[in-house]
Amino acid sequence: MSAPRILIFAGSARREALSKRLLSACIRPLESAGAQLNVVDLADYPAPLYNGDLEVESGIPVSMVTMQQHFAASDGVLVVSPEYNGSIPPLLKNTLDWCSRPNPADPERSGGGIFAGRPAAVVASSPGPMGGMRVLFHLRDILGYLGMYVIPQQLGVGRANTAIGDDLRLIDPRQQAMLEGIASALTTAAGKLRA
Ligand SMILES: Cc1cc2nc3c(=O)[nH]c(=O)nc-3n(C[C@H](O)[C@H](O)[C@H](O)COP(=O)(O)O)c2cc1C
Repeated sequence: MSAPRILIFAGSARREALSKRLLSACIRPLESAGAQLNVVDLADYPAPLYNGDLEVESGIPVSMVTMQQHFAASDGVLVVSPEYNGSIPPLLKNTLDWCSRPNPADPERSGGGIFAGRPAAVVASSPGPMGGMRVLFHLRDILGYLGMYVIPQQLGVGRANTAIGDDLRLIDPRQQAMLEGIASALTTAAGKLRA
């Protein structure tokens, strides 16, 4: 049996994003859990804000078609998100919205089917003390709406600018253990649920 394929991306395109640094800290735990990773940077997938007129006139942007293919090729997804005003950043919502649209040219790799039935995990980061706890609940709600099985374990890393060491491990051993638990649970679920 091949290794479960996990798509992992941050909800920020910012070059120095804390969420991207936390994403880096997720890589070794996922690989240790036996996952095969597809690490995506949303900065490489720019798209206009979803507008139905745009979709009718020009179709789904090529960047979002490629993102749909990433989702479709995955057995599970890990999203590492910042928190914007207690919720998910527009970049992340826009990406999910575009990707949820059916593409008549490629129905198997577009629309709700690229999410439904796959497991997902959510982690968050913030420079503040709360670690983006509020975005975790909004994000799991949205992914659940899309039909994903969001694993119960989650982690919000506060003071994220100082929480991750040079070795890309979380300095707090309890948080590192939680991250490893999430990576293990997601990889196990992805292996069991894949078609
Ligand atoms: C529009 C906006 C809203 C924000 N709202 C929150 C918030 O609700 N909670 C929080 O902890 N940080 C909030 N922040 C601060 C972000 O956590 C901080 O800018 C973070 O570094 C952004 O994520 P990134 O580093 O992954 O790009 C907000 C930042 C912006 C720009």
